[in-house]
Amino acid sequence: MTNKNEITSLMTAKNILKMACLSGAALVFASCRGQISEKPPVHPNMNMDQQPRMEAQEVNKFFEDKRSMRQPVEGTIARGLLKSDVAYYEGTDANGEWIADIPVEVTKELLYRGQERYDVYCSVCHGGTGAGDGIIMTGNYGYVPAPTYHQDRLREAPDGEIYSAIYNGVRTMPSYATQIKVEDRWAIVAYIRALQASQNVSEDEINDYDVDVNELQNEYKAEQERLAALAEARKPEKETEASVQMGEQLVGQYACGTCHNEDGAEGGIGPTWKGLFGSTAQGIDAEGNTISITKDETYIRESIVAPGAKKTQGYEQGVMAPYDYLSDTEIESLVLYIKSLSDN
Ligand code: HEC
Ligand code: HEC
Repeated sequence: MTNKNEITSLMTAKNILKMACLSGAALVFASCRGQISEKPPVHPNMNMDQQPRMEAQEVNKFFEDKRSMRQPVEGTIARGLLKSDVAYYEGTDANGEWIADIPVEVTKELLYRGQERYDVYCSVCHGGTGAGDGIIMTGNYGYVPAPTYHQDRLREAPDGEIYSAIYNGVRTMPSYATQIKVEDRWAIVAYIRALQASQNVSEDEINDYDVDVNELQNEYKAEQERLAALAEARKPEKETEASVQMGEQLVGQYACGTCHNEDGAEGGIGPTWKGLFGSTAQGIDAEGNTISITKDETYIRESIVAPGAKKTQGYEQGVMAPYDYLSDTEIESLVLYIKSLSDN
C-alpha cells in the first residue's frame, strides 16, 4: 500500500531522474558542437580499433632472428606477386632467349607514355633522339659514353634485349627496374623503336606514306620557332650592368666554391681566387709549351669561358667545364668579383 506522501516523493525522484537525463543529454550534445579539444576522443567501444603492432624494422624478441618483419615462407608467393609470364616480366621466352616483339599491344597511348618516361629516365644520357648525346654526356662529367641507338646492332636487337637493358642494366649502365614499372619499361622499348625508325628513314620511304614531307617540315619549323619565341619571352630580364654583387651571386648559383676557395688555402681542386688577379704563374698553353701567365682580366675571362686554353701548372686539366653559355654581363660580373678578392 502506498500512501499519498510516498507517491509524491516517487514523483519527485522521477523528476530528478528526468532532469538528470535531460541535462546529461544536453551535455552530450553541447560537447559535440564544434568544440576543439586536444584530448584524445572518448572512445567507449574499442572495437579492436587500437591493437598492439610492430613498427617496420622493429626488434621482436619472439622470433629467433629477432626481426618483426618476417620473410615469406619458403616456396610461397604472396597473392598478386606470381610472375609466371616471363615474356612480360623478363623479356625472355621459356628457353631464356630474348623475345623478338613487345608482348603488350603497342598503342598510341603506350608510345606517348614511353616518350614521357624515356624523357624522364633515359634522355639525360641517351639524348632526346637516342643519339647518345644527353646532357650528362656532353658535360664532361666523366661518365661512360651512352651508345647511340642508331646503329645496326641495336636496331636489330630483339625487343627483349632492349627491355633487358632497363630491367637488368647492361655492363656499366645500372638497372632501372626499381624506378620503372614493367608496363612502362615496354612503353619505353616501344618509344626507342619509334626513335630508331624516325632517325633511319629515307625520303623515298616517307614518300610511300601519304604525307607531304614539305608540309611536315614546315610544321616542324613553325613549332621550333614558336618554342624559341616562348623561351625568349620567358627569359628573365637580365640586369644590364655587370657588378661585383652579381658576380658573387653567380658564384653561389654555379657552385664555383666546390673547387675554388677565397681564403688563399692551397690544395683545392682549382686554384684559390685570393690574390689571383694580377699574379703571375707558370702555365702551359694549348700546344703544351711552358709559358708565363699574367692573370689579368683577359686571362680570367678566358679561364671561365675556355678553361682549356691555358693551364695553370699543378692543376688537373679538363676538370672545369667551360661556362661559355653565360652572358657577357655575367662573365664580366664574375671577373669583377674575382678581381675584388685581390683588392687589399
Ligand atoms: C647514367 C646514364 C644512363 C642512363 C640514365 C641510361 N643509360 Fe642506357 N646506357 C648507358 C651506358 C653508359 C651504356 C653503355 C653500357 C656499356 O656498354 O657499358 C648504355 C647502354 C644502353 C643500351 C644498349 C645496350 C647494349 O646492348 O649495348 C640500351 C638499349 C640502353 N642503354 C637503354 C636505356 C634506357 C631505356 C634507359 C632509360 C630507362 C637508359 N638506357 C638510361 C648510360 C645510361
Ligand atoms: C669542378 C671544379 C671546378 C669548378 C666547379 C670551377 N672551376 Fe674554375 N678551375 C678549376 C680548375 C681545376 C682550374 C685550373 C685548371 C686549369 O687551368 O684549367 C680552374 C681554373 C679557374 C680559373 C683560372 C685560375 C688560375 O689561377 O689560373 C678561373 C678564373 C676559374 N677557374 C673560375 C671559375 C669560375 C668563375 C667558376 C664558377 C662559375 C669555376 N671556376 C668553377 C676547377 C673548377
